[in-house]
Amino acid sequence: AKPRTVFSGIQPTGIPHLGNYLGALSNWVKLQNENPNDRLIFSVVGWHALTLPQNPKELATSRRDMLAVLLAVGLDPKRSIIFHQDSNAMHTELAWILGCITPTGKLRRMTSWKTRLAQSRNANSESEVDESLLNAGLLTYPVLQAADILLYRATHVPVGEDQRQHLELSRDIADTFNRTFKKPLFPLPTSLITPAKRILSLKDPTSKMSKSAPDASSRILLTDPPSLIASKIRGAVTDSITTGIAYDSVARPGTSNLLAILAAIEDVEIESVARRCAEANMSHADLKREVTERVDALFEKPRAEFERIRGDPGYLEQVAKEGAEKAREISAVTMEQVRQRVGL
Ligand code: ADP
Ligand code: NA
Repeated sequence: AKPRTVFSGIQPTGIPHLGNYLGALSNWVKLQNENPNDRLIFSVVGWHALTLPQNPKELATSRRDMLAVLLAVGLDPKRSIIFHQDSNAMHTELAWILGCITPTGKLRRMTSWKTRLAQSRNANSESEVDESLLNAGLLTYPVLQAADILLYRATHVPVGEDQRQHLELSRDIADTFNRTFKKPLFPLPTSLITPAKRILSLKDPTSKMSKSAPDASSRILLTDPPSLIASKIRGAVTDSITTGIAYDSVARPGTSNLLAILAAIEDVEIESVARRCAEANMSHADLKREVTERVDALFEKPRAEFERIRGDPGYLEQVAKEGAEKAREISAVTMEQVRQRVGL
């Protein structure tokens, strides 16, 4: 097969939770370990984090911690390019140029923008939307995302369902650039479908596990000690009326979410996990015990690695420096071509 260039980014917005791990990070490690010919580029995308208000001190910590997380879960800086987006200014240079060929109407049609608009409407409790509450970055960050991908002429992007529309826009922008300046430059990036592993909140299993939910016991963090993992899973909402274990995402979302967690960890179908649990006559308590054991085992090594790497700032700086150098080397080749085409 032709070697692929894979790009993916993650925002430095705190320690990842089980959903981030099973839905994104573990797939990156899998890509790295299963496709020796691919060029893999993973970025901590600090500029994207600025679309929401940040405490500068906390952001600086999160930025460093996220790099440590990527290394702790098993990404290898000798094999993959791992770097901070904000240490390669060519991302913003390309974003500006791409922004100038992107109609604002397209950006206003993004679901992410519409959601922000709706939120600003609620905040004012008026029917009129107040755009003064919305910074320009919230509208244009999908263009920065396109630049993140196209700067490396990436061919494949692992995306979750929530990012599909943005990848579509990236393809669109790449195509517009290629047509506008006649001599095609950018491959149209395609999504790398990873099996849907949407992990739900432990407290409200109708919404996804999220780092922004107010109840911290609704999510398990990569750094949670075993006792905390155990108490969070013990407190997970299940359907106490029903006895026995069965998969039914509509009638029994809490129980089904625990089964989905097991299935994702074991990398098997949810139905086969459900069957095994039913055949073993497991109770909810039994199921929670098993989930606790599996999550414990899953996070044991990354948690220890995170603590070790975080305690070695010299190493982190070295990785960041070398990653940025490699990223800039590839980007510079693209930008020379870009500037030539646009006439700069
Ligand atoms: P959050 O929603 O907690 O703020 P992000 O939006 O920063 O997380 O997502 C980072 C990555 O983790 C994305 O690839 C996203 O698709 C994935 N992800 C986030 N939450 C979940 C979840 N509950 N289950 C599976 N994957 C998830
Ligand atoms: Na999100």
